[in-house]
Amino acid sequence: MQGVTDARFRRQHFLQQGGVDCYYTPFLRWERNGVRPKDRRDVLPTANQGVPVVPQVIAANRDEFCRLCDFLQKMGWTSIDLNMGCPFPMQTGHGRGAGILQHPERVESLLQEMTVRREVSFSIKMRLGQQSPDEAFALIPMLNEAPLHHVTLHPRLGIQQYSGTPDRDSFARFYALLQHPLVYNGDIVAVNQVYRLGKDFPDLEGVMIGRALVEHPDLARVIKSR
Ligand SMILES: Cc1cc2nc3c(=O)[nH]c(=O)nc-3n(C[C@H](O)[C@H](O)[C@H](O)COP(=O)(O)O)c2cc1C
Repeated sequence: MQGVTDARFRRQHFLQQGGVDCYYTPFLRWERNGVRPKDRRDVLPTANQGVPVVPQVIAANRDEFCRLCDFLQKMGWTSIDLNMGCPFPMQTGHGRGAGILQHPERVESLLQEMTVRREVSFSIKMRLGQQSPDEAFALIPMLNEAPLHHVTLHPRLGIQQYSGTPDRDSFARFYALLQHPLVYNGDIVAVNQVYRLGKDFPDLEGVMIGRALVEHPDLARVIKSR
């Protein structure tokens, strides 16, 4: 989580709490001079040694995406997560994060780049759309064609930011249509929610927990131990 978690948090959490199979870095973005030094330090393999981490990138177009992938691959990373869910207007306004979901042709060009980089295991973190859930459903055929390890869906819209409740019906529809492993994300704060999700969606790949893991660092361990 941008501005909240970093390599030190991940390491401490992994060593002291556990229960998490995979951590994701806050998104890296390509600025005029490349990746910010602070973000570069956070993603250095030496800063993440021994911790299961996947670096995340955010990009508005194929050029930015390529530069970020080159940057990470040169460091030795072989898994990369693409953020298509950030609702911050600073990102969506530039067509990044949830802002790219309204532009299927741009999403398609990033997915095409993934097919070129077969040596990388790609995943996607996304919302239902920026303005409407129709955006995610329009992308399903191209997502199904893409070489994705998994997709994580936070079933809210970008314009909602964090208001309202996650849209379970749209999540269920997406689950039925997506041909890749699917991870649920959004408002998980308690163990019983995870069991409910497992019952409702037996093929669910997993859950991603954001804010509640910062507030309750033992949450993943407790979920795993039940
Ligand atoms: C301050 C803040 C920073 C975030 N930064 C990221 C990020 O860098 N990458 C990402 O995929 N999601 C980011 N998120 C979104 C969370 O990963 C998650 O999708 C969202 O908070 C909903 O899940 P939760 O209810 O478990 O927190 C951020 C959320 C917050 C509140």
